[in-house]
Amino acid sequence: MEMNRPDPELSLGDLAPEAVVQEIERLVKEIDRHDHLYYVKDAPEISDFKYDALFRRLQELEQAHPELRTPDSPTQRVGAEPLNELPSAEHAAPMLSLDSSYELGDARRFDERVRKDLDLDTIQYVLEPKLDGASIELVYEKGLLVRAATRGNGRVGEVVTENVRTIRSIPLRLQKGAKRWPLPGFLSVRGEAIMPLSEFEHLNNSRRVKGRPEYKNARNVTSGALRQLDSRTVARRPLQVFAFDVLHMEDGPSLATDRQALSAMKSWGFQIPERVRTAGSVDEINQYYRDFDKCRDDLNYEIDGIVIKVNKLVLREKIGYTSHHPRWAMALKFRPRRVAAGVRAIDTQIGRTGVVTPVARLWPVKVGGVTVTNVTLHNREELERKDIWVGDLVWVQRAGDVIPQILGRVKREPFAMPITCASCGTELEERGPLTVCPNRFACPAQLEGRIVHFASRSALDIEGLGKKTAALLVRTGLVKELADLFELEPEQLVQLKERFPDESSRFGKVSAQKLVLAIRESRQRLELARFLVGLGIPEVGTTVARDLAAHFRELAALRDATPEQLAEVHGVGETMATTIREFLDNQNVVEALDRLLAKDFDLVPPPEPAPADVADHAPAHPLAGKTFVITGSFESIRRSALQAHLEKRGARVTGSVTAKTFRLAVGEKPGSSKLAKAKELDVTVLDQDEFLELIDWPDPPGSPATKAPDTAE
Ligand code: IVH
Repeated sequence: MEMNRPDPELSLGDLAPEAVVQEIERLVKEIDRHDHLYYVKDAPEISDFKYDALFRRLQELEQAHPELRTPDSPTQRVGAEPLNELPSAEHAAPMLSLDSSYELGDARRFDERVRKDLDLDTIQYVLEPKLDGASIELVYEKGLLVRAATRGNGRVGEVVTENVRTIRSIPLRLQKGAKRWPLPGFLSVRGEAIMPLSEFEHLNNSRRVKGRPEYKNARNVTSGALRQLDSRTVARRPLQVFAFDVLHMEDGPSLATDRQALSAMKSWGFQIPERVRTAGSVDEINQYYRDFDKCRDDLNYEIDGIVIKVNKLVLREKIGYTSHHPRWAMALKFRPRRVAAGVRAIDTQIGRTGVVTPVARLWPVKVGGVTVTNVTLHNREELERKDIWVGDLVWVQRAGDVIPQILGRVKREPFAMPITCASCGTELEERGPLTVCPNRFACPAQLEGRIVHFASRSALDIEGLGKKTAALLVRTGLVKELADLFELEPEQLVQLKERFPDESSRFGKVSAQKLVLAIRESRQRLELARFLVGLGIPEVGTTVARDLAAHFRELAALRDATPEQLAEVHGVGETMATTIREFLDNQNVVEALDRLLAKDFDLVPPPEPAPADVADHAPAHPLAGKTFVITGSFESIRRSALQAHLEKRGARVTGSVTAKTFRLAVGEKPGSSKLAKAKELDVTVLDQDEFLELIDWPDPPGSPATKAPDTAE
């Protein structure tokens, strides 16, 4: 990995300059030979470790003596200066650069200037991604690729035809495409060569495995590859070219706009940039910029901004050029990407000179399409200054290059629960560990939840009435309570689109009818248990609802039941009985339920159990059909284990003593109310030993086979 600062331990002072020159020359030759053996001949002679040592030695010498670094040094393969050996050629037209900015506001200034220059109210622009690769010119004579050149100094570039021939996305012979775009006699096209990020990552992975230094970014590899002297090595670098400009054309169709140029190039067989759009306003430009900034990580190549160009070619000529860039175009660049990542560990690496470098090992994160796991923390002082510990969350930034930086710790922000409900504004209440909005019947969020629950699979099972629709119905005021659902008319749903354009309702005639029908049909032959689930009685789920329905058989009977009667139901304890009673007594519930029941529900009780079922369920065990109540704790036996044991034998365990109770089992610290009730109703009370014997409990009391005692009641 490259170090950003001079290594204080590196001492080259004792090497005479002449010796340094000779050593550099020797290293360059040696590494070149090994590169050739490795990349071209695929027959390496030395280990990767040894190669790496040679490479690093050369890097160190060049760092200490930059004046001795030559353009053809193997360390310069990545992003090197133009090599002298490549022939040069003048471009068909100058390959200018682009004026660029990071400020969105500059798009407005650009638009204002262009409109002023042209004295026009509106201008049509073409918007394109700004590809982050290497600019290239492709020249075709009579349809044949005759020359490819890098940008060079903009006027004269290096000829890299043979290298470019290896790129498959370039037509070697122009395709005879659309009739509208006959083949030109002479064509010079400008485009961007890029390396797909997946290929780049693959390349770096294999270098990492081999212990070779990784490439900094895909752009450098691309321009390095384009300038290779041996085109066979280029073939091993899967590059692509996107064409975006006709630099010069003779004997061809006349092109009036950039869009036409793109469409002509596409028809001749070029790959053109994706997601090209036209825009007539700064707002559209800003939107395009923001959309691209968000989605650029989804692309398999780097883009570093967007390009805004005047679409009409005659207008371009009117606006003209500076010596550096066209005045009819500009680039809006993206800011470097930063992502929060967790520090998994901090390791150290010891360099050849003994300097110990701390390296943060991160939980892998994708920063701009590249996975980051290791980031240098440079040195002890830097580590202390940034105050980074294992387990911290840090900001990782990557500015186009692969080498990421840790900017610093992500700040911890204290979090406080809100004071008022985000949905209805009511002051929240703390109930034990919970924070609760007490506005149970008028809070829109709670109403939404009630509707969703009411319509859910285990309740009324209304298809098409999910979270989104419930929210829509509540927000638009169509539904203020459950009963309102049954008043909905398809027409009301269809009208939502017009009445509330911001709500993005998707109801058309058909979908509206479907939903209304589903709601209405849900009332027909509705199992009582499902209705009870739908009401959302606290603590009443599917099982208890079934037990309640089986026990009471009619909703009216349930509504009239005393807490004691409720507690007689299998699976309902005293506490739950009180909760259910309180719910049913709540004035809001009473009214809401009355209004709901006025909507003609056809509630059906569960079928009576067939006698055969009973026999099946309880094969003549002496405990079958008996009801037990258990109070207090039974040392080292779990309540649930006792209950399971009894139920296996056909007995039931209920929560409160009634006349139907067969035995009350009393453990330690029993509830006094149950004992009193048992006395009152003359129910037989058993102590622990009697009880365990009666039910034939296998383990002696206190056996470690079971766990910590439960607390009573
Ligand atoms: S238009 C004279 N469009 O960005 C205007 N350039 O600094 C020609 N680039 O080296 C440039 N994507 O190679 C244009 N969609 C695009 C581009 C693009 C990438 C490169 C271009 C140039 C650099 C400008």
